[in-house]
Amino acid sequence: MAINCSFLLVLLLSTVLHLLLFDCSEKVEAYRFGKMTENLKFQSHVVSLSSLIPAEFCSTSDQGSKISSKLLQVTHKHGPCSPLNEGNAKIPSLHQILMDDQTRVKSIHSKISKKNKKVADSKVKLPAKSGESLGTGNFIVQVGFGTPKQDFTLVFDTGSDLTWIQCQPCAGQCYSQQDPIFDPSASSTYSNISCRSTTCAELKSATGNARSCSNTCTYQVVYGDSSYSGGNFATDTLTLSSSDVFPNFEFGCGENNQGLFGSADGLLGLGRDRISTVSQTAYKYRKLFSYCLPSKSSSTGYLAFGTEAGASSGTQYTPLLTESRNPSFYFLTMTGISVAGKKLSISPSVFTTSGTLIDSGTVITRLAPAAYSKLSSAFREAMSQYPPAPAYSILDTCYNLAGFSTVSIPTIELYFGGGTGLNVAPSGILVQASPIQYCLGFAENSDASDVAILGNLQQQTFEIVYNVDGGKLGFKAGACS
Ligand SMILES: *[C@@H]1O[C@H](CO)[C@@H](O)[C@H](O)[C@H]1NC(C)=O
Repeated sequence: MAINCSFLLVLLLSTVLHLLLFDCSEKVEAYRFGKMTENLKFQSHVVSLSSLIPAEFCSTSDQGSKISSKLLQVTHKHGPCSPLNEGNAKIPSLHQILMDDQTRVKSIHSKISKKNKKVADSKVKLPAKSGESLGTGNFIVQVGFGTPKQDFTLVFDTGSDLTWIQCQPCAGQCYSQQDPIFDPSASSTYSNISCRSTTCAELKSATGNARSCSNTCTYQVVYGDSSYSGGNFATDTLTLSSSDVFPNFEFGCGENNQGLFGSADGLLGLGRDRISTVSQTAYKYRKLFSYCLPSKSSSTGYLAFGTEAGASSGTQYTPLLTESRNPSFYFLTMTGISVAGKKLSISPSVFTTSGTLIDSGTVITRLAPAAYSKLSSAFREAMSQYPPAPAYSILDTCYNLAGFSTVSIPTIELYFGGGTGLNVAPSGILVQASPIQYCLGFAENSDASDVAILGNLQQQTFEIVYNVDGGKLGFKAGACS
């Protein structure tokens, strides 16, 4: 199928490009966005508007079986593919999602600020020295804890380190979750960590919690959206797959938890600091993991450890940078942006002043004001055949597409160190804000010195390879839908 369609694509490209987008499978899209763009600078994506809207039912992909048996299935927290099965009542509005996103971004900015400025937002209470102050992400995976193993559905987050699950007896308070709450006393491999251990000292330096020591090491993490989890810092067996079992995995056994976790059972920390899942499994996976985030809540992606799931071909790499003052985050070098195949004239200093990081939990990519304004005006120019619409929340470049069944969207390519380009998928360019209103899925930082963030909307459908020990981050187009 993929080969046939690729030939078809080449043959028909000059004349009937529009038809192809719907005739061929996602694999052709991958081919088109990935390899051919290098030669044939595509200037626009022509997509049906319905392709930008999630379906009512989950369409499971065959990605898993093809790549590895060790893949964890990734889904949106809400929607038809989520194992949380929440129903429509709990699905937040786009407006709410964007507000939560803005809160997360503010907390990242306040952590990373080069100016050490104070956050003025009184609603965001950041503990003085918190190492964990992010809002929570929106993609989930299932992993096993304890002996016998019990499965839990966790939000995964490359922007924080500590993994935690809700634990009985919920001495403080637990929110309602779908799976039965973990009962440490029912697991033969569970142990509390002593507050006199070096592990506890490391936790405290990582999370900035100075707590009194009586017996059990306790933890408390507060995220930027004022969600929190607290409880006993403990070890138990973590099971990622039948052959990937990690005894004595350090995690938070949360007995006092509240916030925007939906009905997820906790959080899987994929930051790069000492207590993260990436660091704790380094002896087996060499700090290598990859994921593909699905573009819709009606499709699925994957999270893979120890493997570049699609490494066979087409992955482009850019150097992964560290900042000793912000050890949890994954930094990149961003170098430029093109719209409709034309490179925007943005001074390199705009990118070096802000710096850039990649985050699985931030939804909308944030750019320095000088970069965003160039992007927005080039986009407006390329979209001038469509009627403009008012801004929607943090998205200020919007269109009224009532009456259109297809839309021609200019390509947007983001460039990173090493010449690597990320040719953003259509779903990462236009966001549906209402049945007729669609907006450019990028936003601007308020300050030129605030770090730019490659958000998950623009990462969707790419396999993102984190090769931490190898010092590089990879993008492979069309790895999931
Ligand atoms: C772990 O510590 C908590 C709090 O001190 C205690 O209630 C619980 O019984 C301990 N669990 C085990 C298995 O030691």
